[in-house]
Amino acid sequence: MYPIHPFVIHFPIAFFTASTLFMILYLSEKEVAFEKAAYYCMIFGYIGALGAFITGSIDFSHLAETDPRQGAVSTHAYCGASLLLIYGVEIGLRRKYPKILDGSRRWLYFSIAILGNGMVFVTGWLGGQLVYGLKVGIE
Ligand code: HEM
Repeated sequence: MYPIHPFVIHFPIAFFTASTLFMILYLSEKEVAFEKAAYYCMIFGYIGALGAFITGSIDFSHLAETDPRQGAVSTHAYCGASLLLIYGVEIGLRRKYPKILDGSRRWLYFSIAILGNGMVFVTGWLGGQLVYGLKVGIE
């Protein structure tokens, strides 16, 4: 069957990146709409990451247990799973402290977003390595 994971992964990559960019805009412009956009992009990114997790797990299950690429896929999968944890904490903080980007915890909140975005790029890059380097899902 054709892998379904590649259809879904663009959503978390785009929404999490947009969320960080809107956060930066809010920190410099103080326009409330940017903070709201950052929050909702994070929510949509999280839904996309859940979709990526489910479809990635389905595609992973098609790889033979003895396949030497199992380790590379697992590393990518752990990175993908860490996104659910990182952004789960971030969304939890925002829900508990809706004005967090105005208070003393704002650098903690912003740093977690930067960490999350770094992990989004690492996960995406590892995914590209799987397909274009190791031909997972192709051969
Ligand atoms: C938000 C989290 C994730 C992102 C952003 C992501 C991203 C990617 C990307 C960019 C590719 C290359 C697709 C292509 O160019 O065709 C890929 C491939 C792959 N990923 Fe992920 N991934 C995520 C989570 C996961 C998880 C949790 C698993 C497994 C449990 C997984 C398993 C795979 C597999 C098996 C492939 C190669 C075959 C295929 O495309 O389905 N991914 N991923």
